[in-house]
Amino acid sequence: MDVKAVVSRAEPLRQHLIDPEICIRCNTCEETCPSKAVSHDSRNYVVDATLCNYCNDCISPCPTGAIDNWRMVDKARPYTLTEQLAWDSLPPETPVDAGPTAELPAHIAEITAVASEGQGGTVLAPWSAAHPYVNLYTMQKPAVATVSGNYQLTAEDASCDIRHIVLDFGGVPMPVLEGQTIGIVPPGVGSEGRPHPVRLYSVASPRDGERPHYNNVSLTVKRVTEDHEGRPVRGIASNYLCDLNKGDRVNVVGPYGGTFLMPNHPGSSLFMVCTGTGSAPMRAMTERRRRRIALKEGGELMLFFGARCEAELPYFGPLMKLPKDFIDINFAFSRVPGKVKQYVQDRIRERSADVVRLLNDQNCYVYICGLKGMEQGVDEAFRVACREQGEDWGTLLPALRAQGRYHVETY
Ligand code: A2P
Repeated sequence: MDVKAVVSRAEPLRQHLIDPEICIRCNTCEETCPSKAVSHDSRNYVVDATLCNYCNDCISPCPTGAIDNWRMVDKARPYTLTEQLAWDSLPPETPVDAGPTAELPAHIAEITAVASEGQGGTVLAPWSAAHPYVNLYTMQKPAVATVSGNYQLTAEDASCDIRHIVLDFGGVPMPVLEGQTIGIVPPGVGSEGRPHPVRLYSVASPRDGERPHYNNVSLTVKRVTEDHEGRPVRGIASNYLCDLNKGDRVNVVGPYGGTFLMPNHPGSSLFMVCTGTGSAPMRAMTERRRRRIALKEGGELMLFFGARCEAELPYFGPLMKLPKDFIDINFAFSRVPGKVKQYVQDRIRERSADVVRLLNDQNCYVYICGLKGMEQGVDEAFRVACREQGEDWGTLLPALRAQGRYHVETY
C-alpha cells in the first residue's frame, strides 16, 4: 500500500478518511455532508479531499465512528478517490515529519483542534460513564451469536409485532454498555447482488447480561411491515430477527456508541423519554439500576414512554411491577379508543415542575430515543416547561450538552 510520508518541506494536510473495515455503509455521512465530499461505490465510502471543508457535520451521526479517521499527508498528494475505493483497510498512520505542531500552518492547527474535540465537537458522554468498547467485530470478522430466546412483547391482536430477542455469545467476548448498539448482518444479498446492509439495534440488557453473568445481550425489535408513510415494505433485518428460532446463529458487528451512556456515580439521576422500540436503552439503564437497588446509591429515575396503547408498549408488564419510589413512570398512549391522543411531550408539559427540577440537577442525565418526529416535540415541551417554571431552555440546553447530560438517538 502506498504510504504518503509527509516530508519535511511538504505542506501537511490532515486528510479526512473513512475506515472501510468499520464502515457499515449506512449512507448517513453521504446524506449529511453539506459539501458533497462523501461518495461511495459498491465497496467503500470515501471522502474527496478537495471538497471536504472540515465542517464535521458527518462525525456525530456516524453510528460506528468509521467516519472519524484522519491521516497527515502531503497537501499536494492526498489519497485520491480511486485509491480509497480500493482499500480494504486504512493506510497506517505515518509519523508527522512536518516539524512541531506550533509550526503547522494556522488552519491545520485549527482543524486538528476542532476534529479532536470528540464526536461532532459537541456530544460528550457523562463524566462518570464506564469505558465503552467499540468496533470489536467487523463485517470481515463478525462475532457469531446463538439465539437463546425470541419472545413476543406485544399482544397477539396488536397492530404490530415487537420482540425481545436474546443472543448468546458463548465464549466470544461482547462487552456492551447500556445505550450502546450492535449491528446485525442479515444473511444473503439484495436484488443487485450486494450484501444486505447492517442494521443497528440498541441493546436492551444491562452490561452484566440479559441474564446476570451470562454472556448474552437482548434486543427489542419491531417487525417492519410498512414505511413511515404507511406503504407496505418488508424490513430485511427486522423480519430476519423476528423470525429467528432458538439455536439459530447470527452474525453481529460492533459494539458501537461512545456517548449515549449512563452515568455511574452514586446519586446520579436518569431522565428518559422514548417511543416504541426506543425503549431498549431505557430498559437496559433501568434494569442496571434495578439490579443495584440494594446498594442504595441514590438518584432518581423518571420515564416518559409513548406507545399506541398498552398492548403495544414493550415491557409494559415488567414496568408496572417496578416500585413507585424507584421510578416515576409517565405513559403517553396515542390510540386508545375513547381517549384523547397523548404524546410524550404532552406528559412532559403536565409534569413541568418535576421535569425542570431534574433538568436543573447537575447530577441528572437526559436520554431521548425513538421516532425522529418526537425530537422537535420534546424540545418544544422542555421549552414550555422551563418557561412555566421561570427558566430559559435556550440557556439550559447548551449547558446540558456541554456537561454530557443530553443524549438523543432518533430514527
Ligand atoms: P401515533 O399513534 O400518532 O402514531 P409507533 O407505534 O409507530 O412506533 O409509535 C410509538 C408512539 O409514538 C405512538 O404512540 C405514536 O403515535 C407516537 N408518535 C408518533 N409521532 C410522534 C411525534 N412526532 N412525537 C411524539 N410521539 C409520536
